[in-house]
Amino acid sequence: MLARTSLRTARAFSAAKGGATKNAARNASSQSSSESAASALKNNGLLASSTVFALGSVSWYYYQFGRPTQAMTPAEEGLHAVQYPWEHEKLYKTFDHQALRRGFQIYREVCASCHSLQRLPFRKFVGSFMTVDEAKAMAEEGEYDTDPNDEGEIEKRPGKLSDYMQAPYKNDEAARAANNGALPPDLSLIVKARHGGCNYVFSLLTGYPEEPPAGAVVQSGLNFNPYFPGTGIGMARVLYDGLVEYEDGTPATTSQMAKDVVEFLNWAAEPEMDDRKKMGWKVMAVTSVMFLGSVWLKRYKWATIKTRKLQYNAPVAPAKQPGSTFRR
Ligand code: HEC
Repeated sequence: MLARTSLRTARAFSAAKGGATKNAARNASSQSSSESAASALKNNGLLASSTVFALGSVSWYYYQFGRPTQAMTPAEEGLHAVQYPWEHEKLYKTFDHQALRRGFQIYREVCASCHSLQRLPFRKFVGSFMTVDEAKAMAEEGEYDTDPNDEGEIEKRPGKLSDYMQAPYKNDEAARAANNGALPPDLSLIVKARHGGCNYVFSLLTGYPEEPPAGAVVQSGLNFNPYFPGTGIGMARVLYDGLVEYEDGTPATTSQMAKDVVEFLNWAAEPEMDDRKKMGWKVMAVTSVMFLGSVWLKRYKWATIKTRKLQYNAPVAPAKQPGSTFRR
């Protein structure tokens, strides 16, 4: 674009001086040949320099604004988690609801002592991996504030299905104080909130080495985990083989527990996934039938037009009349 504009300017420029390329060629006989050679050289020079200028400005722009910017070095970003073949991430698969039940057990028995899950009400569990009675019984274990009564007093009542899960600490400050200054984040949306999602959380939970590698600097109070940005994490390894006993008899290995809790956390962040996929398939089925119908309808409506034959009948020449000048 820039090159073309410059070329146009160059042409106009030389035209003004009476030496436009075309004219130069056409008038070659009437002009001295050294003059036209000089003007061609000038034009080529302008073309070359404007091209160099255009390419230069594009590369300068790319250098300034085009390259991705990284605030941290790759080491500070942490090791990139590998892609695991998650069943529930496939287009035609739902969550494994037995895994959700196991994952929730892990959350309750292991993570819940530090991490909250405050965006989930107990009613969400019903029909997903718990019966109404189980969910009610669990909700009633918690104590919640009542609305103020006539005297303005707030009393305590057992939890209901519509209540949300309670946090282990009263506030963030209490959580930090109990964890060496590190705040255990709420896990409701953690799978959505971290780059790598399920892969990252799984790698984080299973990625604690027995000992930090030689040369790694680990601050006191932190634990080495290559997947955590900066590699020093406030959370120690929490999952060990045989830590819990699954009610369905699944062997509770570290990776099994990590997989189950990650699938559960994915459900927590995206409880509508099963319905969304089912709806997606229905939409695809209905729209593809409708698409075929519309193709048929279009062909039906256009059939008369598409199969119409246009024929040209030349006018019949009038019979020759006596005295007419018409000749064939
Ligand atoms: C003893 C308390 C404790 C337990 C138990 C615990 N965590 Fe943590 N967790 C922490 C703390 C503290 C942090 C913050 C670490 C930091 O910022 O350095 C954290 C951070 C995390 C993070 C966020 C990492 C990031 O990228 O910011 C995830 C995910 C996580 N924990 C998952 C879990 C899961 C899943 C469990 C249960 C299997 C669990 N944690 C059990 C204390 C705990």
